[in-house]
Amino acid sequence: MHNKERKGRVPQAATHAGSHNFRASLELMIATIVLFLSTSAFPEIVPDTYKAHCHACHGSNGAGDTMIGKNLKLRPLGSHDVQQQSDEELFAVISKGRDRMPAFDRKLTKDQIWDLVKYIRTLRK
Ligand code: HEC
Repeated sequence: MHNKERKGRVPQAATHAGSHNFRASLELMIATIVLFLSTSAFPEIVPDTYKAHCHACHGSNGAGDTMIGKNLKLRPLGSHDVQQQSDEELFAVISKGRDRMPAFDRKLTKDQIWDLVKYIRTLRK
């Protein structure tokens, strides 16, 4: 009974005094977030495992624009054909290899392979 009474009650003085400032800072916060996203100031985090094990063939941003990548005619990892595959399929390719790509399940842990799947998702166009 006592609780019920307290719930809906807002300390009047506090909301009146604070509402303007709160709104202003909320607007500022939203503006900052929008700016942050639109300038793509997002630092791109490329896993070390990608640099060490994948870059030679798949290139920067998975574009496949390295000498080996071009020879192997690799599809960009950000392309629709690659992105339409499920996380499990991408995980399986990296674990077991495909065609001229070696298997990585002995070199990398499952967590590392999942991180690579997540990284590949960030390359989606
Ligand atoms: C020796 C070169 C080589 C290396 C190193 C390599 N790959 Fe590949 N990768 C390939 C080839 C070849 C394919 C098969 C392309 C195809 O199916 O046409 C492939 C396919 C893939 C695919 C599926 C793409 C598609 O077109 O469907 C993914 C995802 C992938 N690799 C991720 C990785 C990741 C992550 C690493 C690092 C752990 C890696 N690869 C290392 C050569 C390589």
